[in-house]
Amino acid sequence: MEIKQVTVVGSGLMGSGIAQVIATSGFPVRIFDSFPEALEKGRRGIEKSLSRMLKAGRIKEENVKEIMSRISFHSGMEEAVKGSELIIEAVPEVPELKEKVFQSLEKLSGPEAILATNTSNIRITEIASKLSRPERLVGMHFFNPPVMMKLVEVIKGEKTSETNFQAVFDFSKKIGKDPIKVFKDTAGFVVNRISAPESLYFILLLENKVDTPEAIDAFARSQALPMGPYELMDYVGIDTVLHSLEYYRSTLSEDYGKAEIPGKMVKENRLGIKTGEGFYKWQDGKAQIPKANPSTKVELMDVFALEINEAVKLIEDGVATPVDIEKGFCLGMNRPFGPISVAKGLSNREVKGKLDQLHEKYGVDVFKPARSIEEGKMKEAIDGNLKVPQERKESPVETDGDLLKVVRKGKVVRIQLNNGRNNLLNTKVLDELDHTIDKLWSDREVFVIVIAGNGNVFSAGAELTQFIPDSLEFMEHSRKGERIFRKLSEIPKIVIAEMKGYVLGGGFELSLNCDIRVSHGDCVIGFPETTIGLLPGWSGSQKLAKLIGMSRAAYLILTGERFTGEIAKEYGLVSRLYGKEELETKTMEFAQELSEKVSPIAASLSKKLIYKGSEVPMDIGLEMESIAMGNIYNSKDFMEGISAFVQKRKPEYKFQ
Ligand SMILES: NC(=O)c1ccc[n+]([C@@H]2O[C@H](COP(=O)([O-])OP(=O)(O)OC[C@H]3O[C@@H](n4cnc5c(N)ncnc54)[C@H](O)[C@@H]3O)[C@@H](O)[C@H]2O)c1
Repeated sequence: MEIKQVTVVGSGLMGSGIAQVIATSGFPVRIFDSFPEALEKGRRGIEKSLSRMLKAGRIKEENVKEIMSRISFHSGMEEAVKGSELIIEAVPEVPELKEKVFQSLEKLSGPEAILATNTSNIRITEIASKLSRPERLVGMHFFNPPVMMKLVEVIKGEKTSETNFQAVFDFSKKIGKDPIKVFKDTAGFVVNRISAPESLYFILLLENKVDTPEAIDAFARSQALPMGPYELMDYVGIDTVLHSLEYYRSTLSEDYGKAEIPGKMVKENRLGIKTGEGFYKWQDGKAQIPKANPSTKVELMDVFALEINEAVKLIEDGVATPVDIEKGFCLGMNRPFGPISVAKGLSNREVKGKLDQLHEKYGVDVFKPARSIEEGKMKEAIDGNLKVPQERKESPVETDGDLLKVVRKGKVVRIQLNNGRNNLLNTKVLDELDHTIDKLWSDREVFVIVIAGNGNVFSAGAELTQFIPDSLEFMEHSRKGERIFRKLSEIPKIVIAEMKGYVLGGGFELSLNCDIRVSHGDCVIGFPETTIGLLPGWSGSQKLAKLIGMSRAAYLILTGERFTGEIAKEYGLVSRLYGKEELETKTMEFAQELSEKVSPIAASLSKKLIYKGSEVPMDIGLEMESIAMGNIYNSKDFMEGISAFVQKRKPEYKFQ
């Protein structure tokens, strides 16, 4: 679904800034706030910001008018969300408030609209937990001020659909941002999570009377950091710092409860810039920092070690790639370098030594070296060569182009066709599919593959406008599709086709070569080839009859008649029907379930026996079966399956 109209909920500091960014990029945007004075404040904020940009020569007078004409302000939620494809929430960081707002949004918005939250720290899974369709919610974390800061962290909750995740990522690029992908929604995501131990450390420095805020801030500035840590906390708001620490205490570690100063400051209403006093007094938006010599009691290496440590934990947990962690931290913190590049210049021993020291001095487990640093594998982690535990790993799989989106989630890989609205199949798509299948072929950490389409369509078939010069080439083109699709029935993994929208012609043939097909009831399936003078030439003329019998196959191919997912289920072609809205979530859950309970060796040998066996006489097929049984007897997975069954536990298959 194309995002054309956006709604922002909450007209505060972030909401109004986000709306301004979206309108500046040419999209109409509605702002909703439950307080009329907040709407007015938001409007004034945007006007002020645009007039500053005008003065600075970054935009022209006519741009101001155009941008303002794209923004409308609403005090009724229903009118504000009607017809919007993307709704971004930016209300205060209170979990219960966000949950309530999303419950209303779920009811009032269109069923296909993507819901996004600008939360700074709260796990997306937690906010989505009260939604009847949690797959709709994506994290879209802008940085303050949204107009200036390029970073958007796009965050996937446990149930967020891949389609919505990608759509928000793509949209972030369209509005001029430089987004990163956060595959696992740990508290604080990437940038705030890496900064979390650091905030704790700086507060503990004061509680342990190591030095004064002004001396430590002077030290930080002398080291080319744009702002000292206490000035930054004042700027962000001490109440926000306190909220974050409390949230980290409840989700990450009790250690975050050890900082007492922020609680006291909040009680005294010393919230920083917003109340005029925090660690410092504030005047005209500037901190009045007493003059001080840079502290000699802290070392930059303390901060670096803590940042590297937290970054390595994120890599170990499969939260984001090292490249995105580095980029996110630089953009989000306005730093020229991030923890990954710093770690490249340090040895494992240096970082571990520093962390051991900090842990011992402050008695805080959060400062303890991450597992990989403890084991001397820091370099492997930052180079992306760490073996991430499978059940936690979700990362994009490299492809040769952008006509496929390929994502790994645990032992499941989802290959999503990504070629326009109808995911048409052409030579380039086939080549990318071919290379991806080859790459996955001997990857023993992948047990199940899901083939799907981006957007609302699986694939409406071959791209008929593609130029093919002569009949010989056309024959080769047919062979090519047939050969590549056949690989799916031969690859030693379970392959599931997630059929939705249109599954026609070549798209239908692609699905026929998968092992299992799932669909929604009103999915449109068929072979229209004969009605345009062609025939199903990518294995369809052979495969369909094998799957549903000659009579039905002849009828469907000779009439070109389209049929529904429901009828396909009756024919036994589709094994499971899911609701349209839940198709992706349910398919991925099903794939996940198979990846956990079915031995991959048993699955790959079984599919060979089924498909190859159907091409040979029964006695040869039976002989093949006995040989396969003999082979499987020696596999470790067979032993594991039997042991797990006897011990009444879940098996842990290794593809061995
Ligand atoms: N301020 C930052 O530096 C920053 C940076 C990144 C993310 N965030 C996150 O963005 C979100 C918003 O932060 P902010 O700084 O813009 O807060 P803010 O207090 O400036 O604005 C919140 C707005 O939400 C409105 N609101 C409250 N309840 C509402 C409801 N039920 N329906 C509609 N509107 C409602 C308020 O009237 C207010 O205008 C928070 O989740 C915060 O953590 C903030």
